[in-house]
Amino acid sequence: MSHQVPTPIMLTGDRPTGPLHLGHYIGSLKNRVAMQSLQGERYIMIADTQAFTDNMGNIDKVTQAIPELIADYIGVGIDPGKTTIFLQSAVPELVELTMLYMNVTTVSRLERNPTVRDEIKHRQFERDIPAGFLCYPVAQAADITGLKATVVPVGGDQLPMIEIAVETVRRINRLAGKDVLPEPQAMLSSVQRLAGIDGKAKASKSLNNAIFLSDDEKTVSAKVMQMFTDPNHLKVTDPGQVEGNIVFEYLDAFHTDKEEVEALKAHYRAGGLGDVKIKRLLISTLNDLIQPIKEKRDQAFASKGMLFDMLRDGSAKARAAVGQTLNEVKDGLGLFRL
Ligand code: TRP
Repeated sequence: MSHQVPTPIMLTGDRPTGPLHLGHYIGSLKNRVAMQSLQGERYIMIADTQAFTDNMGNIDKVTQAIPELIADYIGVGIDPGKTTIFLQSAVPELVELTMLYMNVTTVSRLERNPTVRDEIKHRQFERDIPAGFLCYPVAQAADITGLKATVVPVGGDQLPMIEIAVETVRRINRLAGKDVLPEPQAMLSSVQRLAGIDGKAKASKSLNNAIFLSDDEKTVSAKVMQMFTDPNHLKVTDPGQVEGNIVFEYLDAFHTDKEEVEALKAHYRAGGLGDVKIKRLLISTLNDLIQPIKEKRDQAFASKGMLFDMLRDGSAKARAAVGQTLNEVKDGLGLFRL
C-alpha cells in the first residue's frame, strides 16, 4: 500500500464580540478566502463558548454578534461549500475533550500563558479571574485537536495557544502509546496589524477606531475624513510626513496600484499635495472594496434563517468529526466507554 499524505485540515476561529473590520480583513479574512482554492479541509469556528469566558456580563452582545459574523464571512467570499462554518457551543463533545485535557496541563502552566496574562491585565480581573477564562487555552487545544487540525492560521498573540495544543497532543499520544492526535502547526499571518483611524496602534471595535465591513459609503467617508495625518502638515505647500500617517498606511494596505501610492508619497513629502486629496483617494479605494462586501453581507443578514441553517449543517459536520476524535482519544487512553 502506498503511503498516504494526509490532507491538511485548517481551522481558524473568531470570538463573536462584534462585526468584523478592515483589520480582520487584511489580517485574516482575505487569506481565508484565498486558501479556499487550495486542497484540504477548512473550518471556521465561531468561538461563542470562548467569548463567554470574559463576557458573562454581555451575553446579548455575544449572541447578537453571531449572525453578524456569519454575514461578514459570506460578504467577503467565504463559501460554505468549501469552508465549514460552525458554532463552538453546538459541539458539546469539545467540552468533554476540554475536561480530559485539563488533566494533562497544570494551573501554573496556564498562569504563565503570556496572552492570557495580558488579557487579565487589560480586563482588570485582578484576583477575580474566571476559572473558565484561565482555562480557555485548554478548550482551544480541544477545538484544534478535536478536528485534527494540522494548520492553524493565527496572529502572533495566539502562538501560546498553539504551544499548549502541541503539548497536549504529545501528552495524550504518550499516554496512549500511539499517535492518536496529529500535531498542529501555527501559520503566522505576515500582515502587520492595521492602525486605527485615530493613529492608535490597533484598529478595534472597543477603541471605536475601526472601519467595519458593514459601514456604508457615508460612514467610510466620514471616518477617513477624521483620520490622523501629519499634524505639522498645515498648508498644502508644506512638506508632509508619510511615516505614521494613517492615510498612507491604509493606502499601502488597500490600494492596488503600488506605483501610484509611491508617487503620491513622493509628492506629499515634497509638499504641494493636500490631505483632502489623499483622503478622497482613500475613500474611493475603501468604498470600492467595502461596498460590494457590504451588499453581499446585508443580503445574507436579511435571511437569517438561511444563515442559521448553514451554521446548523456546519456544526453537525464538525460534531461528527469531534465525536470520532473523542472516541479515539478515550479508546487510546483505555477509558471505559459504555
Ligand atoms: N482565541 C482565538 C482568538 O481570540 C479564537 C479561537 C478559538 C481560535 N478557538 C480557536 C483560533 C481555534 C484558532 C483555532 O482570536
